[in-house]
Amino acid sequence: MNNFNFYTPTKIVFGKGTVSQAGNLVKQFGGTRVLIHYGGESAIKSGLIDDVKKSLDEAGLFHVELGGVVPNPHLSKVYEGIELAKENGVDFLLPVGGGSVIDSAKAIAYALYEPDEDVWDLYDHTRQSKGSFPLGAIVTIAAAGSEMSDSSVITNEKTGEKRGYNSDICRPKFAIMDPELTLTLPDYQTMSGCVDIMMHTMERYFTGNGNMELTDAIAEGLMKTVMKFAKILHANPTDYEARAEMMWANSLSHNGLTGCGNGGNDFASHRLEHEMGGMFDVTHGAGLAAIWPSWARYVMKNNLHRFVKFAKNVMDVNPMIGADGSELDAPMSDEEIALMGISRVEEFYHSIAMPINMRELGIEPTEEQILEMTDGCVRATGGKVGSAKVLERADMEAIYRMAL
Ligand code: NZQ
Ligand code: ZN
Repeated sequence: MNNFNFYTPTKIVFGKGTVSQAGNLVKQFGGTRVLIHYGGESAIKSGLIDDVKKSLDEAGLFHVELGGVVPNPHLSKVYEGIELAKENGVDFLLPVGGGSVIDSAKAIAYALYEPDEDVWDLYDHTRQSKGSFPLGAIVTIAAAGSEMSDSSVITNEKTGEKRGYNSDICRPKFAIMDPELTLTLPDYQTMSGCVDIMMHTMERYFTGNGNMELTDAIAEGLMKTVMKFAKILHANPTDYEARAEMMWANSLSHNGLTGCGNGGNDFASHRLEHEMGGMFDVTHGAGLAAIWPSWARYVMKNNLHRFVKFAKNVMDVNPMIGADGSELDAPMSDEEIALMGISRVEEFYHSIAMPINMRELGIEPTEEQILEMTDGCVRATGGKVGSAKVLERADMEAIYRMAL
C-alpha cells in the first residue's frame, strides 16, 4: 500500500427533511451573509429555494441569490457571482444543485479570497489558490460528488475550454443530502449521474501502482452497489432507498476513499471527456460512458491484472463460463476475461440507456474537431495523463477515434 493523505472535512447531514437545518449549519460555520447559488428551473419549481430561504431567515441570516448556472458551468456566471457577492459583503456560499452549481460556487469562493486576481488563472493552471471563502452545499443530484471533493470544473464559454482545478481548500464545510430532493430528476440525468459515480471509483481502481486489498474491497462494493441501484432507479425512479444508496455512493466515490493507497489515480477518461463537454456541451456522465470502453480496450494490456480483477470481482466474469453462458473446457485467458469485463460494462450502460460511443451520445466530431479535442487535452494535462497507462498525444487521438 502506498503512502496517502485522506482529508474529508465535510460534515454530512443526510436524510429526509434536512434542508431545514441549512440556516443553523451556515451559522455553525461562521457565515453571516450568504449567497444562495442555483441552476435553472428545477430548484425554484420544486420550492426548494423557498425552503432554503426560510431556513436562513429563521436563523436570522442575510442572503442574496443568483440562479442561472448551466450544466458545464460558465465562467461568465462565476464573474457575475463574484460581483454580486462583493456588492453585498457575502461571507458564505450556499450552492443548491448539482456539480455545476457547487463548482460555480467554489470558483466564486476562491475569487472572493483573492479579489484582485482573475480566478480563471487557477483553472488555466498559471497560479495556485491561497484560500477560499467557506461554502456549504445542498445537493440535488447524485453524480459529481463535488460536495465532498477537492475539485471544481468550469467552462470558459468564450474559448470552449473546460478546465478543472483541484485543491483541498475548496472542500465544503457541510453538505445537506436529502435523497428526496433527487426525485424530480429526469431519467437521463439520474443515469448519467450513476455513470459518473461509478467512474469516479473506476478512475481510482485502474492504477498502475499499488496493492490495496481494503481499498479494493470498498471500491468493488461501491461499484456493485451503484450498478444494482442504477438499474432499480431506471425502472422505478421514485424508489427512495435506491435514491438514498446512490446519493451516499456519490459522495464516497469522489471524496478519495476509494483510492487510498493506490499510488495515483488514472482520470484519463475524465480528461478526455472534459474536451467533449467543452466542445459539444454533453452531459458529463453520458460523455464518460461514451469514452470509457474505448479507453479501456486501448489501455487494457498495460494494466491487465487490474482489468482481470475488475472483471471477476465487479462484473462477475467466471473464467469457465463463455459469453453464451456455456461451460468451457479450459479457462479463458486473462485477456479474454478482461475483454468480457469491458463488454459487461457496455451491457450495463445500455441497460440504463447510456451510450457506449460518441455516435450513441449524439455527437459526430469532424476530423478537425478530433484534433482540436486532442490539442485541448494535451494543453489541459501537460501532455501526459493516466496511471493504468500514461497517455500521450497520439494515444489521446487514437482513443477519440476509437470512440467515434
Ligand atoms: O439547472 P437545473 O434546472 O437545476 O437542472 C439541472 C441540470 O440541468 C438538473 N437537476 C439537478 N438537480 C435536479 C435537476 N433536475 C430536476 N431535479 C433535480 N433535483 O440536472 C442537470 C445537470 O446538473 P449538473 O449540476 O450539471 O449535474 P452534475 O452533478 O452531473 O454536475 C456536472 C458537472 O460537474 C462536473 C462535470 O464536469 C460537470 O461540469 N464535475 C465536477 C466534479 C467535482 N467538482 O468534483 C467531478 C466530476 O467528475 C465532474 O467533472
Ligand atoms: Zn466525473
